[in-house]
Amino acid sequence: MKTLVLCNQKGGVGKSAVATLLAHHLAQRGRRVLAIDLDHQANFTKPLRLSGRAAITAFAADALLTGTPPPLPDKPFVLVPGDRALLGLERQPALHTPFARSFRAFLVAARDAFDVCIIDTNPNPDIRVIAALASADYVLSPIQLNQEAMDGVSGLLNHDRVGLRKIKAVLNPKLALIGLLPTMVEPTPFQKANFLQVVQQYHPLMIRIGAGPGAFASIPRRSCIAEAQAEGAVLWEMKKTAARDAWREIESSVARIGDIVTGAASTTNRKEAADAAAT
Ligand SMILES: Nc1ncnc2c1ncn2[C@@H]1O[C@H](COP(=O)(O)OP(=O)(O)OP(=O)(O)O)[C@@H](O)[C@H]1O
Ligand SMILES: [Mg+2]
Repeated sequence: MKTLVLCNQKGGVGKSAVATLLAHHLAQRGRRVLAIDLDHQANFTKPLRLSGRAAITAFAADALLTGTPPPLPDKPFVLVPGDRALLGLERQPALHTPFARSFRAFLVAARDAFDVCIIDTNPNPDIRVIAALASADYVLSPIQLNQEAMDGVSGLLNHDRVGLRKIKAVLNPKLALIGLLPTMVEPTPFQKANFLQVVQQYHPLMIRIGAGPGAFASIPRRSCIAEAQAEGAVLWEMKKTAARDAWREIESSVARIGDIVTGAASTTNRKEAADAAAT
């Protein structure tokens, strides 16, 4: 099992929406998917619950940090839901190290039953995010192309508690940054200029989906993506033409990320990104 964490301290950048798309995509491709929602807002839990596709554990994700949870259902697509108890974990600093250890032990125990584990995180840099990053194989950072979010990319790499360089150096040398995924991209001159700026400034962190100069993974802003998220629909199965069009636009980006996590993609971009995160 390979573990992917969706992470960015910025709120509302599309972490949960991308986690949901990836989980459905990989399940559809026949991968055994374990979905974990570490966010008490439960925006990964809600769409997966509504979709009816995942078996949902009776316990919430805080149990993965606080002790030994009961066995997981023997199903190919399982969700450990988020709930408000997750909020209490940060307030128990003396237990943070045991929390991270329990989470890691849980992932090790689940490793033969699933191909991929997708973890959605909360935006505040707390023990949930640290525990996830400390045990994951991959991290993916959705970003928005506004100035504030772009300024935040440096924090993503260098934050003193959850910065990816620090986590990699101190807690988890195997952690590989798949890269930055611009989301909710709009065809405005402002966003186009920001896209160029991200590509220039963080070139090795962009996710290649082809050979062309602008061929990097990204997700446009489409109302049907928000609708799929709100209704628990699987985007490419929605009746609207707009939804199928949106899926066609994003499929290569979602598939590329899925291929990297499952080991089906070439490692070139992955190595570049890992090297960039390490320097
Ligand atoms: N590509 C998209 N096009 C249109 N709407 C989107 C897109 N991606 C996400 N959204 C919507 O934007 C809002 C924020 O997205 P999402 O919840 O995925 O962000 P998040 O990073 O998980 O937020 P948080 O930091 O609060 O967890 C949601 O209402 C979601 O449905
Ligand atoms: Mg979210």
